[in-house]
Amino acid sequence: MKRVRTAVFPVAGLGTRILPATKAMPKEMLTIVDRPLIQYAVEEALEAGVERFVFVTGRGKSALVDHFDIAYELETVMTSRGKSLDRLGGTRFQPGALVSVRQQEPLGLGHAVWCAREIVGDEPFAVLLPDDLMVGKPNCLAQMVEAYEKVGGNIVCAQDVPRERTQSYGIVTPGASDGPLTEVRGLVEKPQPEDAPSTLGVVGRYILQPEVMAILGRIGKGSGGEIQLTDGMAELIGTQPFHAFTFAGERHDCGDAGGFVVANLALALGRADLAPRVRAFLASRD
Ligand code: UTP
Repeated sequence: MKRVRTAVFPVAGLGTRILPATKAMPKEMLTIVDRPLIQYAVEEALEAGVERFVFVTGRGKSALVDHFDIAYELETVMTSRGKSLDRLGGTRFQPGALVSVRQQEPLGLGHAVWCAREIVGDEPFAVLLPDDLMVGKPNCLAQMVEAYEKVGGNIVCAQDVPRERTQSYGIVTPGASDGPLTEVRGLVEKPQPEDAPSTLGVVGRYILQPEVMAILGRIGKGSGGEIQLTDGMAELIGTQPFHAFTFAGERHDCGDAGGFVVANLALALGRADLAPRVRAFLASRD
């Protein structure tokens, strides 16, 4: 079985749910406590053993790549003033480890993943959606990689979602379960609550086999007029092992204002240097 060495970060979306924050700034640069969403996702992948990082970007997204570059002026000035560069930790790649490709038009998540096909090549790969911030130990992708090493094939991260919200997710038709792994018998994108085969919703982490790329290249638009990753993955069911993985940890959907604020609170409360101040503030508002 080939190791998961490559991770694709589709970061070309328009982020309309959290406008105006994302009018001139990529959604994935939104800051949770003191680092942008993209950095959390990159660090998660790095810890899970990923060596090649593919950003699928769009126009106006260069800050995402710049965030992991050398910042000469900043570093020179900080050093000359005797300031520590520790706060810049986690913002450099090994030279050559980051590749960025353009999705010229935001035609959907499936199309964004397909844009990375030449770089992914003939290997299994991970997909991380940085606006889904996953908090867990070991981290979400590391847990999925461990499961992948046992069952192979394709694994999507999944979570029980409220039935009234099924039209915001890809929904699994579940088969047999074994611990955190549930066999996937079908996948449908954004079904109405009354049509949803379950309430097991796919969230922003995937381990996929390269065969999905050819499928994504030929399928047309699906739900919402976009080329859907769910539709591409659905065609793999029955031809390769396919599981949903319920991860042990917390997920924050930072793509809308409510989730973004809660994520900031949750992570600040987890930090010894910030928690007392945040707790005191919240208590004063009770
Ligand atoms: P979302 O469904 O959150 O879409 O995409 P969005 O466009 O970013 O945000 P809203 O819904 O308008 O507020 C999930 C992930 O897929 C990427 C996004 O950047 C995000 O990481 N994506 C989506 C692309 O890269 N390209 C697309 O065409 C669509």
